Amino acid sequence: MRISFLLLVMATAIALVGCVRPASTQGDLTVTSLRTNDLDNPLAVPTSRLLFSWKTTATGRAVTQTGWQIRMARDAGALVSAPAWDSGWVTSSEQVMVPYAGPSLDDAASYAWQVRIRDNKGRISAWSQPASFETDLGSIRWQASWIGAAAPKADSAIFRRGFDLPARPVRARLYVTALGVYRMFLNGERTDADYLAPGWTDYNKRIQYQTYDVTSLVHEGRNVLAAMLGPGWYAGNIASFGPHKYGVSPLLSARLRLDFADGKSSWVDTDGTWLTAPGPFRQADIIMGETYDAAGLPAHWNLADAPSDGWQAVRVANREGRDDLLHAQSDEPVRVTAERAVKLLARQPTPGALIYDLGQNMVGVVRLQVNARAGQDIRLRYGEVLNPDGSLYTANLRTARATDHYLPAVDGYQTYTPTFTYHGFRYVEITGLTAATDVTSLTGLVVGSDLRRTGTFEVGHAMLTQLQSNITWGARGNFVSIPTDTPARDERLGWAGDINVFAPTASFNQDTLNFLSKWLRDLRDAQTPDDNYPGVAPNPPNIESGSGWSDAGITVPYTLWMAYGDKRVINDGYESMKRFMARIEAMAGPEGRRVHGPWGDWLHLDDPTPPDLLGTAYLAYDAQLMTRMASAIGRNDDAAYYAALVNRLRGLFKQHYLHDDGTLGSNSQTGYAMAIGMGLVEPSAAGDALARAVAARHDHLSTGFLGTPWLLPALSASSHDDLAYRLLLNRDYPSWGYEVANGATTMWERWNSLKPDGTFGDVSMNSFNHYAYGAVGDWMYRNIAGIAPAAPGYRSITIAPRIGGGLASGGGKLDSPYGDIVTSWHVDAGILELDVTVPVNTTANVVIPSSDASKVTEGGKALDAIDGAGAVTHDGHGTHVTIGSGRYVFRAPYTAPAP
Ligand code: BGC
Repeated sequence: MRISFLLLVMATAIALVGCVRPASTQGDLTVTSLRTNDLDNPLAVPTSRLLFSWKTTATGRAVTQTGWQIRMARDAGALVSAPAWDSGWVTSSEQVMVPYAGPSLDDAASYAWQVRIRDNKGRISAWSQPASFETDLGSIRWQASWIGAAAPKADSAIFRRGFDLPARPVRARLYVTALGVYRMFLNGERTDADYLAPGWTDYNKRIQYQTYDVTSLVHEGRNVLAAMLGPGWYAGNIASFGPHKYGVSPLLSARLRLDFADGKSSWVDTDGTWLTAPGPFRQADIIMGETYDAAGLPAHWNLADAPSDGWQAVRVANREGRDDLLHAQSDEPVRVTAERAVKLLARQPTPGALIYDLGQNMVGVVRLQVNARAGQDIRLRYGEVLNPDGSLYTANLRTARATDHYLPAVDGYQTYTPTFTYHGFRYVEITGLTAATDVTSLTGLVVGSDLRRTGTFEVGHAMLTQLQSNITWGARGNFVSIPTDTPARDERLGWAGDINVFAPTASFNQDTLNFLSKWLRDLRDAQTPDDNYPGVAPNPPNIESGSGWSDAGITVPYTLWMAYGDKRVINDGYESMKRFMARIEAMAGPEGRRVHGPWGDWLHLDDPTPPDLLGTAYLAYDAQLMTRMASAIGRNDDAAYYAALVNRLRGLFKQHYLHDDGTLGSNSQTGYAMAIGMGLVEPSAAGDALARAVAARHDHLSTGFLGTPWLLPALSASSHDDLAYRLLLNRDYPSWGYEVANGATTMWERWNSLKPDGTFGDVSMNSFNHYAYGAVGDWMYRNIAGIAPAAPGYRSITIAPRIGGGLASGGGKLDSPYGDIVTSWHVDAGILELDVTVPVNTTANVVIPSSDASKVTEGGKALDAIDGAGAVTHDGHGTHVTIGSGRYVFRAPYTAPAP
């Protein structure tokens, strides 16, 4: 009795203290992860487009944001004392891509910002840790010259320029670009970690520059800015179409801005005073490889004490209006994102050649440490797979030589890493050594656009775990400045059909917002005079357009909007998308039959779909997406127009393709899958017909690039989850599991890239790293992890795992724009436990797949009694409950459906 009285007194005291404690010091509402333009502390954002995002963690459930306050200053130290902008409290629930609304900002200037929020429980967070950003050059004119090698047709060169400084600058920024690819050095040190900068754009329309903080590299006295320049995409080979697609000889242009303690600034620009030399690259080609003759690099070439022999004046090119095409790179740079150890294979079939295995089909280069002699020709070749005799298989690289040569300048131990090329490979073959033991170390450097990893997918199933790994490696290796089809052979183009089908999966695994927004810009730059989107972007080979490829111009913006909630992707492309829609609607004519382009359901397995069915289905689907996107940006007349178009096309589609016996088109799996997924037919009847078409192939798939992403979703949408799981878990040909069973570590281009008899698929087109069939990852996230956006940006979330295939556990974690969405479920002794975390300021509709709704509990309580939950309903998929933020552990009796 006494004890309970004491407890009561203590509890009252604690409650009182809680009441009087100033809200702003509460530690249970915390703002983190500040990003500007969806980047961490970027160095060049346009002042016209400055967007702030943050995330919040909080104790308690169903926490929402009711207001925010941002303050900004020239540096973090001035945020309190001298803010350049204080928004004051803004009543708003927005926290993703919130536009800057303060006074105009200086160009090329640094700023810090921080934010605090208040929530629906009356709490006020502490101010967040500051984040920073810098503005781009804005209206500061690009005065630097475009300089090139002395020989007008040289495709590589090195450059240097010495300069004296009276004092050490307090801030130094390098703005640099090239027509070609560059590597910059300041006083002998690299200025950055980027690879193949400035990246690939249509250089006749848009040239990206990069910004680097080089304050720590510059000093009082003599300094040297130096560069290596290679042909890259500008002057080097593009796919199999040869070199010089944009120009013959690369050019460099750079501006170094130095700010001193006395408030003065000065610039060191590329101009006619720079010196050049041919440099070490005898070849530096993305497709063919690099030949690096170390003797070609003059002594101390990038240091202050370099001898002057061998250096000449640079060639200063005519500006040709290029300055107007410059803009700061808006997406993540290409970088080395990981290193991998190699293993020397026990079996070495070719005398004089050593083959190493990286254990993973990857994209990038190697770092070779070797004991070598001057002038020796050390050759490195790369392959994705081995021939049956253990030798390197390179036939599928077609004309890509993909070979590097290193010619040492001196005897002894030395290191070589290629600079201006990259390869797709799992195996490396080295020849030209004196002894096998000369290789002291070899490391794989994984190169790709350095996108933030956002999704992880967990399942208690080894094959699916490997499949997920293969899917993510496909994106890592093929996202290199643009989304490419394949990294190894003479192709590596921004094929639109491939990213059309893969973008949803990719956007679970990585933050693709800036990367794919940049590529959409490339696609719009490549839009044809008759308003079509071509099959690839950038498009120097002038490749045509076609159904399923060109449609990426509509589907990719929609994917990004749903994944990130950023309406800029709609606004930026809207007029271009409208023009494309008008074009393909005209192609379909009043009859509503769109026959467009040569590719069809690419690489299907002898199960063709009529081209007009594919084209019309995509037109109707595009119109649905346009209806939603138009209304999201307030273009209501357009939304009504597209809605009417969808209705008309739905009618025509059924009229043209749905036969009296319930079959569709040519009875292809792809035809059914797309028609169901695109909402053109009733799912139940068409789903049964699809199930019959799958059964006719002994429960195996036959879909190509366009049909595959829709196949499992269509089965799930028509009550055939069991069949969806069977296809997913098959291990014999053709299936995803077949690839895994045959040792795949990335997705293959063809279902039969390696045939069941052990021979290779059609050598004229057979890549072992092609992400299109990895589009199944979207179904895996939605159905095994059970995570899907219910509103753009995951502002509301669907959490609905569809348990099947005998799986006993699964889940996933998605770093969404609002914070981590986490699911984890397992079934044990007839009980399903589903553990869910929902971010602050969002809601989730959770579907618990229980056979007995009345027995579903959360934290031991019936669902209608739990804190933070809304109405509870039930349907054939399970018990639905809407919850706010927080962590919830649901338990329910669960009986697996009969197989
Ligand atoms: C590419 C594909 C691409 C296709 C067009 C191929 O060569 O590798 O991925 O989409 O051409 O059909």
